[in-house]
Amino acid sequence: MLKGKTVIVGVTGGISAYKTADIVSRLNKLGANVWVVMTNAAKEFVSPLTFRTISKNPVITTLFGEELANSAVPHISLSQKADLIIVAPATANIIGKLAQGMADDALTTIIMSSVCPKIIAPAMNTKMWENPIVEENCSKLKTVGFNFCEPEVGLLACGDEGSGRMSEPKTIVERAVEFLTKKEKQKDDKKDLVGKKILVTAGGTQESIDPVRFIGNRSSGKMGYAIAKAAADRGAQVVLISANSNQTAPLNTTLIYADSSQAMYEEVMKHRHDNNVIIMAAAVADYQPKIQFFQKLKKDEDEFSLDLKKTKDILEELGKSKNGTYLVGFALESDNLIENAKEKLIKKNLDMIVANEPSAFGDDYSEISIVDKNDRIEHFCKAKKEDLAHRILDRIFIS
Ligand SMILES: Cc1cc2nc3c(=O)[nH]c(=O)nc-3n(C[C@H](O)[C@H](O)[C@H](O)COP(=O)(O)O)c2cc1C
Repeated sequence: MLKGKTVIVGVTGGISAYKTADIVSRLNKLGANVWVVMTNAAKEFVSPLTFRTISKNPVITTLFGEELANSAVPHISLSQKADLIIVAPATANIIGKLAQGMADDALTTIIMSSVCPKIIAPAMNTKMWENPIVEENCSKLKTVGFNFCEPEVGLLACGDEGSGRMSEPKTIVERAVEFLTKKEKQKDDKKDLVGKKILVTAGGTQESIDPVRFIGNRSSGKMGYAIAKAAADRGAQVVLISANSNQTAPLNTTLIYADSSQAMYEEVMKHRHDNNVIIMAAAVADYQPKIQFFQKLKKDEDEFSLDLKKTKDILEELGKSKNGTYLVGFALESDNLIENAKEKLIKKNLDMIVANEPSAFGDDYSEISIVDKNDRIEHFCKAKKEDLAHRILDRIFIS
């Protein structure tokens, strides 16, 4: 798939440098010509020999070394060859250096002299990641065209739990493939949403019964992820709050996991005021078990009944005090689709609702109707969710 493509993989000094071996291996298996460039700090974590063996190319560790001795100006010859540069993991240090335009080692010099797309996959302790200086440096790099594979929330090597864990190698490689195989600039590849802040929810919540069982639904998260991706591609700043979904994190979005309706409620409430638009595409459970058992239930009884209670209605709560936020809901109905969607729009004080049928669950395609608060209804025939995502954004921002 990547035959004929040259990818430079920059490795900097973080614990997750060992995961970069997987990235190099995956790119290599896809046929890319991979050149690894390591900072001095990176060599403390993984040996260049590992990358040389996996990439089957010399590893560049210094600007003045012998690895590319047969070219007169090695860093220029390599950066000109590159179709893509990935920095994974990207330390706070390299992000800072790139944001300041520094070129004091092989990696920064190569990046500075390249014109190809760049993907930065930061990895660091949560406190570092949330440091306003790091945030400002990232914003600066984004405005000059660097793409970010935002770090995930999870357990970090330092024992802390929070945002800062490097995006999974699989995700980073998928993003790389996207860049390397992108053909013509697409119709929707415009940057008309720069400056907009959008919160999108996606996926299906899971309500715990006991440590191994839950009540869930069939939502795949495809529609919400497609909207988040489309918005980010068009330049918006996107926070994606995701319940259960096997979709990969879209590039340049901040991904937050919220598996249950309660976790989704808390995350949405935390981020609601930072955004101009909230698009609630997640399938949030209406009911949750009244009691959550902390030990696995035994199957002793012939019959077993579970008491359920209503979950918090996130949309309704958002609709009560919008403070200028444009609120979009989704309605999935098996009958009287438009009527029920309209009713929901009014009841929850939404600005727009996207109505679709249960057959859309899990499918790559959907057929939707968009209803807005002025009672304007527009129907979109069966199309890919990626395309429909753009049409939904067009309706919010353009017409
Ligand atoms: C054990 C250990 C783990 C580290 N992990 C990280 C990390 O995950 N992210 C980060 O930004 N810095 C991390 N650092 C600090 C960087 O290695 C340090 O800032 C270094 O100067 C980065 O240099 P480089 O960006 O040129 O590779 C770590 C340091 C140590 C000693």
